[in-house]
Amino acid sequence: MKEKIFELVKEYMDARKQEPFTPGKSIVKVGAPCFGHEEINNALDSLLSLWISQGKKVIQFEKEYAAYVGTKHGIAVNSGSSANLLALAILIKAGRVKKGAEVIVPAATFTTVISPIIQNGLVPVFVDIEDGSYNISPTAIEAAITENTGLIMPVHSLGCPADMEAIMAIAEKHNLPVFEDCCEAHSAAVNGKRVGSFGTLSAFSFFVAHNMTTGEGGMIMTNDDELEDLARSMREFGRLKKYEEGKPRFYFTDEQLKDYDERYVFEIMGYNVRMSDIHASLGIEQLKKLDALTDHRIQVATFYEQHLKKYEKHLQLPATPAGALHSFYGYTLLVKDTAPFTRTDIVRFLEEHNIETRAFLGGNLTLQPAYRGEHIRVADDLAMTNNVMNNTFFIGTHSYVTEEQRQYVVDVFDKFFAQYD
Ligand SMILES: Cc1ncc(COP(=O)(O)O)c(C=O)c1O
Repeated sequence: MKEKIFELVKEYMDARKQEPFTPGKSIVKVGAPCFGHEEINNALDSLLSLWISQGKKVIQFEKEYAAYVGTKHGIAVNSGSSANLLALAILIKAGRVKKGAEVIVPAATFTTVISPIIQNGLVPVFVDIEDGSYNISPTAIEAAITENTGLIMPVHSLGCPADMEAIMAIAEKHNLPVFEDCCEAHSAAVNGKRVGSFGTLSAFSFFVAHNMTTGEGGMIMTNDDELEDLARSMREFGRLKKYEEGKPRFYFTDEQLKDYDERYVFEIMGYNVRMSDIHASLGIEQLKKLDALTDHRIQVATFYEQHLKKYEKHLQLPATPAGALHSFYGYTLLVKDTAPFTRTDIVRFLEEHNIETRAFLGGNLTLQPAYRGEHIRVADDLAMTNNVMNNTFFIGTHSYVTEEQRQYVVDVFDKFFAQYD
């Protein structure tokens, strides 16, 4: 019976793949879950087995993703935002970062890089990004370090790895931990070493638009056994670190508890941010395809580079730093200030032609309503951050951007630029 269901799903998903693209009518999306029957059937397998919460598949996904990134441990959670919230909480709990300390972050990024810093009683210190990579500037990091600095938190923006070799050298010199936000940069690497394997801790998101997805999901990566234990406990109510699902239970005794069921002994204050086996099923299958999914994105980006190079007078194309594997979460374009049109003009034109676009996430986060009146520090003039906020946008590179779709996209760019000959 199960096999019959799986066979039918395969038939359904194969037929679905063949949906035709009608230029101008179909939408060229910025992100989409690139699923085949494998993901759906593995999730169905969990549903049919009725093991739908955190279980064996989460453990399998954690092990396989950690091996891919190159870390000893992976601790799966329900989103990248939760991964950031938890990672900062365990750094404090383990005494690696003091409450009230400053955390150096890029000013141009996503909101749940910053909110968890404040929610954990830390102070975000905003520094500028570099031109081209749009990643945190190592020079700006070093200039922002004071005796209050507790942590450096680089973000690998839109698939482009930050300059981790320079950042790790600064961290070592000042004896500071590094927490990498890799939520937008699965597969990205610096000189063959994957992002997420440089810092004390790192975080990934598996939200829909990302290079691989579990719908919602995230993971904390680390080589540190103490941080791993804390992360496992804190993601699950603050349970006993030694507690393991499925093991015979003993009865816990200390000065105040007597013969108590260890399942309900809470060692620290925690959250419930667990991943379910249904989501992990999707992740296990997506991970098998991750390199191919990223290769596709690189091919689309290369195609765009070849065809949009002729507009470089007005559009700045994304740069790939030497030695970097850029995994192209999106294809980022910056409208130069000398251009005869604005970012709004070109974005409107693309959207009118059913090509989805997105802004550079939260842009300059110090301007966002959420952080007005909060305890933050702005360490420099954020000139590049403001340029990116006002003048960049990105378009999709995922596997459903077929040859036909990418040709349509560059044709629409040609049509737009024909107005300015
Ligand atoms: C840099 C960055 N960090 C964290 C997150 C949060 O991830 P999630 O959407 O899975 O909560 C995102 C969102 O995509 C992000 O872009």
